[in-house]
Amino acid sequence: MEKARVQKIIAHTGYCSRRKAEEYIEDGDVKVNGVVAKLGDQCTAEDLIEVFGKKITVSSKNYYIILNKPKGYVCSKDDYHNPDTVYDLIDLEDGRDAVKTVGRLDKPTTGLLILTNDGEFSQKIIHPSSKIVKEYLAHLDGDISDNDKKAIEKGLYIDDYRLSPCKLFKIAPCKYVVRINEGRKRQVRKMFEERSFRVCDLKRTRIGGLDLKDLDIPMGKYMVVDKQFLMKIFDSKKRVYV
Ligand code: URA
Repeated sequence: MEKARVQKIIAHTGYCSRRKAEEYIEDGDVKVNGVVAKLGDQCTAEDLIEVFGKKITVSSKNYYIILNKPKGYVCSKDDYHNPDTVYDLIDLEDGRDAVKTVGRLDKPTTGLLILTNDGEFSQKIIHPSSKIVKEYLAHLDGDISDNDKKAIEKGLYIDDYRLSPCKLFKIAPCKYVVRINEGRKRQVRKMFEERSFRVCDLKRTRIGGLDLKDLDIPMGKYMVVDKQFLMKIFDSKKRVYV
């Protein structure tokens, strides 16, 4: 088995980015075969790699999964308050730890969620420079005014951060299509909360050129696809923009 830098192997599993893995190594949070790793150390995918004391699974096979997430499932692997995780919905020969979600959806949010162990591919989707637009269908407890729409679309200032411009389309009373090109925690909910509206229902319908309605995936079910299939995300003819 080929040797590679520890951070490269960690990033390849999708656990985190290569840079983040370097930080963990520098902080002494990574062990290889029980020994604290140093930056520059090399190992193989067959070595025992632990991050924060937990073994990470290095699979020789890449998985690409599209899940239609139901309500009530969290995207984190270890949340003792929320025992139902999206990983419980997936049955893989390498076990649930073989993949990681590409970004996250909140527990009550439904819809399009990708899981993979191809860390570089995952980073490419998430990285702001890719400008991949995520589209949501938001059901609110009221209708927003023109002023609310303008303010939200311009980019609100939330949690000490100026959000990028986004787009809203009203499609029915209290129902809006929301297009954002960031993925901050609870972003859509917070954007409306900032203008005193509550999101009663939130569904992700699209990631770049990949539209949930073109995939016949019942709620709670998933499809195992290949990388080529997910390249639709980057397809300039299928993508939408804000
Ligand atoms: N924005 C939210 O508020 N929640 C999600 O789950 C995704 C985007």
